[in-house]
Amino acid sequence: SNYETILVEQRDAVTLVTLNRPQALNALNSQVLAELIDAFAAYDREESQRCLVLTGSEKAFAAGADIKEMQSQGFADMYGSNFFAGWEQVTATRKPWIAAVNGFALGGGCEVAMMADFIIAGDKAKFGQPEIKLAVTPGMGGSQRLAHAVGKAKAMEMCLTGRMMGAEEAERAGLVVRVVPAEALVDEALKTAAEIAAMPPLAAIAAKEMVNAAFELPLGQGVRFERRLFHGLFGTDDQKEGMSAFVEKRPGNWTGK
Ligand code: HXC
Repeated sequence: SNYETILVEQRDAVTLVTLNRPQALNALNSQVLAELIDAFAAYDREESQRCLVLTGSEKAFAAGADIKEMQSQGFADMYGSNFFAGWEQVTATRKPWIAAVNGFALGGGCEVAMMADFIIAGDKAKFGQPEIKLAVTPGMGGSQRLAHAVGKAKAMEMCLTGRMMGAEEAERAGLVVRVVPAEALVDEALKTAAEIAAMPPLAAIAAKEMVNAAFELPLGQGVRFERRLFHGLFGTDDQKEGMSAFVEKRPGNWTGK
């Protein structure tokens, strides 16, 4: 690929995307965003790819949006370009993806990690929304996703003080699914991704869609939405295969149809 700020490799059915701007601790400038949008769209399109892992370096997942790029922007620039709206293309990814976070996940870095379906953290990971120290606030969904993930108390404190939350606290608070030794992080995330990649793909997309609906719909509507997707899966070949395989005591062989 001809990306300059990210590395993309395919390992069997798993795409590994590594943020690669070490000189700026993976600060997320417009080029990183454009390249991520392209890589995520390619992943979503590519039939052989069934799960994606997004990671950074051991020192930093990403230290935020690029402060040097934003420094001189005015309201008309930000509003006129709908700055950060491009991230909605990343969150529109239909297939599953995991954030594997080592080191700093600050500001936009924390916000991008929270866009993932879930986060696995290295033991030295540090999460924070320090934008208030720059006289701004989260702008890529951080106030909303952090509040959903850890509740009002910790979300408020983090957004108001800019303090960092370590990996252990992040696990207790429900921000990350689990903490693993930093050096084992990417392998662990790839292993979990391979497990997801082995699942029937339409059921995986449906599961992702319905869990996400829990954050947007009232309970009754969410339950009905889930039930309709569930009904819909009975129109797939993989449902016939999955249930036959169970009855015949053999592993399922998925076609994604
Ligand atoms: C641009 C950044 C950057 C960022 C680090 N760098 N973070 N450049 N934008 N967000 C650059 C530094 O300028 C420096 O480049 C190089 O990366 C190494 O960083 P250091 O500060 O020298 O490293 P260290 O002393 O180890 O400190 C690490 C750190 C610190 C604690 C993570 O870099 C830091 O506080 N960064 C900013 C964190 C932050 O405020 N993030 C939120 C951004 S605002 P040079 O060339 O100088 O050596 C944001 C907004 C979201 O995300 C939406 C609202 C607008």
